[in-house]
Amino acid sequence: MKLIAPSILSADICTVAEQLPELENETEWLHLDVMDGDYVPNITFGFPVIKSLRDKTRLFFDTHLMIAKPERYFARFAEAGSNQITFHAETASDIGAAIRAVKVLGCRVGLAVNNNIDVETVFPFLPELDLVLVMGTDAGFGGQEFNEGNIEKIRLIKRKILEEELDVLVSVDCGVNAQNGKRLFAAGADVLVAGSAVFAEGSPAENLRELKKRFGIE
Ligand code: DX5
Ligand code: ZN
Repeated sequence: MKLIAPSILSADICTVAEQLPELENETEWLHLDVMDGDYVPNITFGFPVIKSLRDKTRLFFDTHLMIAKPERYFARFAEAGSNQITFHAETASDIGAAIRAVKVLGCRVGLAVNNNIDVETVFPFLPELDLVLVMGTDAGFGGQEFNEGNIEKIRLIKRKILEEELDVLVSVDCGVNAQNGKRLFAAGADVLVAGSAVFAEGSPAENLRELKKRFGIE
C-alpha cells in the first residue's frame, strides 16, 4: 500500500469542504490533526469540525491526537466520525488499555512516535496495532523541516513488522515534501501525511496529483 494522506492543518478550514470532492478523486484518506495546547504548544480543532466534515465526504478519517490523556476523548472522536485514531505513546497512562479502548469503539488504532521518542517504545504493542505514525520532526506545527535522523526509525519499524509478519501500516508525518517523499516510501512508509505540500498554495487536488506522479504511485 502506498498513499498520501492530506492533512488539513495547513488548509483554509472554511474552504476545505469545497475541496473534498476533488481530493476524493486523488486519495482515500484525510488526516485530521487535533492539538490541545498542552501536549503540543498549539491548538487546532475538535469534534464539531470533524463531525461537520464527516457529512461531506466518504474519505477515511485518519485522526491524529496530539493531546494529553487522549483516553478521555476516544469515544467522542469515534462518534464524530473518525475511522482511525492515533495517539502518542507517551500521552497514555496505559498504552495497551488505550489501544483496546480505541478498538472497542470500532476504529482502527495507531500509535505515534514523536521526534524525541525511541521507535522501540512501540515494539511491544505492534501485534495489537493497525498503524505506527513516525513523526518527521516535533509534533505540533505544519511546514517544518524533516529531521533526516528519523528515516532510520522508518526502516527499523518496517523491518520489525516484516519480521513478525504483522499487518501494520507505517505512516510518516511532518516535513513530507516533493523532494523527500520517494525516499520515505523506499525506507518503508506505506502512508505519507502531507500538510503544506498539499494545501499551502495552488489547488490541493492538483498538488496531490503532482506528488503522486513524483513518488510513482498509481
Ligand atoms: C503536525 C501534524 C502534521 C502536519 C504536517 O504536528 O501532525 O500532520 O499537518 O504538516 P507538514 O506536512 O506541513 O509538515
Ligand atoms: Zn498529523
